Amino acid sequence: MQLTDSQLFLDARSHKKFKDTPVSLDTLQSVYELTKMAPTANNCCPLRIVFVTSKGGLSTLAASAHGYNKEKVETAPAAAILAYDMRFYDHFAELAPHLSQPPSQAQWPEDRIEKMAITSANIQAGFFLIAARAHGLDCGPMAGFDAEPIEQAFFDVPSWRFGWVVLLGEGDPDALYPRADRLAFETACKVV
Ligand SMILES: Cc1cc2nc3c(=O)[nH]c(=O)nc-3n(C[C@H](O)[C@H](O)[C@H](O)COP(=O)(O)O)c2cc1C
Repeated sequence: MQLTDSQLFLDARSHKKFKDTPVSLDTLQSVYELTKMAPTANNCCPLRIVFVTSKGGLSTLAASAHGYNKEKVETAPAAAILAYDMRFYDHFAELAPHLSQPPSQAQWPEDRIEKMAITSANIQAGFFLIAARAHGLDCGPMAGFDAEPIEQAFFDVPSWRFGWVVLLGEGDPDALYPRADRLAFETACKVV
């Protein structure tokens, strides 16, 4: 895989409108194989993904979207619903065999479990965006959805919670606004 800064970062945009080009299951599986290598706390790997590629599934997802997000979803050939699993520790015998089992996380208060899950799931989500771009997919990350109907329609496991959505496919560059600025090093960073 020959990757460039342009493909992964400098020219890659958050797409809002997509062409009809389908996304294959092979590609989605391959994107996950890279995503799963992200570092996470205790190797907890809390990210869960529902890939939606059917017309019916995309319509259901669009129905839960806020405002203009609805029509954005309707143009996409595929979407990834990113979730985090509040019972990530159920996999610790496999994922974190160095910890004492059963893991202490099972006794934690819910807000502490959720913070750990969201922090690591979002690191995995960042890897997901880069992995998708590395496979030539354009991404449209979006959080503006009603969580409850998505959880009811797409999640079989009660401990999965909705995070956000990434539309996937071949983006339409003509539908993009000019790229907005990013913060300068001096504003966002400090060296001590
Ligand atoms: C977590 C997250 C939530 C977002 N939610 C939405 C959304 O609900 N609707 C939307 O149109 N764009 C959404 N975006 C896209 C951002 O507006 C976009 O990434 C940002 O403006 C940078 O655009 P660029 O990558 O094209 O430079 C979201 C992005 C992220 C990462």
